[in-house]
Amino acid sequence: MADRILVLDAGTTSTRAMVFAPDGTLEGVAQQEITQHYPEPGWVEHDASEIWDKTLACACEVVGGDAGRIAAIGITNQRETVIAWDKTTGEPLARAIVWQDRRTADFCAGLKDYGYEETVQKRTGLLLDPYFSGTKMRWMLDHCDAVREAEQAGTLAFGTVESWLVYKLSDGTHVTDASNASRTLLLALDGEQFDEGLCEIIGVPRATLPDVVDTHGRIAVARPDCFGREIPICGLVGDQQSATIGQGCLSFGETKATYGTGAFVLTNKGQEIPRSANRLLGTVLYQEKGVRTYAIEGACFVAGSLVQYLRDQLGLIGNAAETEALARSIPDSGEVVIVPALAGLGAPHWRPDARGVISGLSFASGKAQLARAALEAMAHQTHDLASAFAADGAPWSRLRIDGGMSANNWMAQDLADILDIEVERPDFVETTALGAAILASVGAGIHPSLAAAAQAMRGSSTCFVAKMDEDVRRDRLARYARALSAA
Ligand code: G3P
Repeated sequence: MADRILVLDAGTTSTRAMVFAPDGTLEGVAQQEITQHYPEPGWVEHDASEIWDKTLACACEVVGGDAGRIAAIGITNQRETVIAWDKTTGEPLARAIVWQDRRTADFCAGLKDYGYEETVQKRTGLLLDPYFSGTKMRWMLDHCDAVREAEQAGTLAFGTVESWLVYKLSDGTHVTDASNASRTLLLALDGEQFDEGLCEIIGVPRATLPDVVDTHGRIAVARPDCFGREIPICGLVGDQQSATIGQGCLSFGETKATYGTGAFVLTNKGQEIPRSANRLLGTVLYQEKGVRTYAIEGACFVAGSLVQYLRDQLGLIGNAAETEALARSIPDSGEVVIVPALAGLGAPHWRPDARGVISGLSFASGKAQLARAALEAMAHQTHDLASAFAADGAPWSRLRIDGGMSANNWMAQDLADILDIEVERPDFVETTALGAAILASVGAGIHPSLAAAAQAMRGSSTCFVAKMDEDVRRDRLARYARALSAA
């Protein structure tokens, strides 16, 4: 019987395909790296054809010759990254502009100078930062001849990564789900479709945008030539929202933090539209039969990428896992503090101009101190977010963590200690893919509700309980605050 879910997880550094059983068992994985293009400082691009080719190759590998067991496809993706393609050829018109790309910083600053930020924040839950998709679309229209010509010819399609994958898998269905649409600056949190007024402010023609649909349900159908038979696409969701669902944060106030390339914290806000007075983001968590559940989000741009930097740029470590032993090898960081503002600062500071800081260096500072300070920075960034969430009336009583870096036990304990709350880590850490599997299984009718699917598909977890001496904790927080002011 067809009851397996094929999940496509198109992330920033790699794309993966996985097959899940209805009880959440992972039955197969295939993964390929995505090439990162850095044509200028602050610019990050992907090749959209590579994303499609590698995602399809991973999917075919994991499905094997047995497409008959796949009931539905769920897609989750790096958010905000923009792809422009031609509807007549189905081919990309320019390199994809990746969420980390800062090239529209001046354009955003100009919109702020015109006084648009308040309106934009009120309507979309977002801020005028180059992170979000809309200004990247506008940049393509202003700078890429092929994109502009397609727009004039009426053949231009814009989309985020899930939109592109659905277009390629299906017979040209041009849709986006509400969770991804809510990252563009072009969707009002209470508006069903992209908003004409917001499109005008940013300068993106609404006709080039996809239709906004639910995150789960029968969304589109994959062509028979992809897998040998038609398979319905029943789940579409941005990767951070997906991890929130995969962590079972389905009730008001439940919170997860994912430590991947960056760190993203989302708290379920139910059906109330989130309003932040502390520069957090309001976003759509999922949409079921047209009804939205929202989340409040804090996004930090640098997490695992700091460890990568220590490894690849500074050559301090051979692999990421070494940081745990290094951190444990010393009693403290010897006053070394790292503020990981290597790509500016995201929430709650939003300072694209900020740069990284290493403070407190002495002749005693070796690679152990630097590695420990890098891990400590994760707890400090998260603590900054915790303070903003609390000030917004959304304090955390416990935190569920996931993402590659969360495997580091020392870091998980440090998070519990600095946040002074219980931190819970699922034993199965592929929560992003699991979230898309949960959504698609509900969309395909395998489970009757998200709660039932999460109950059936989630496994056990490990808890980390705060045990740090309060003086040490306060000292750490004060030292980080001093270093932050220099960033
Ligand atoms: O908003 C950006 C986020 O979706 C990227 O996630 O896991 O690809 O680093 P990831």
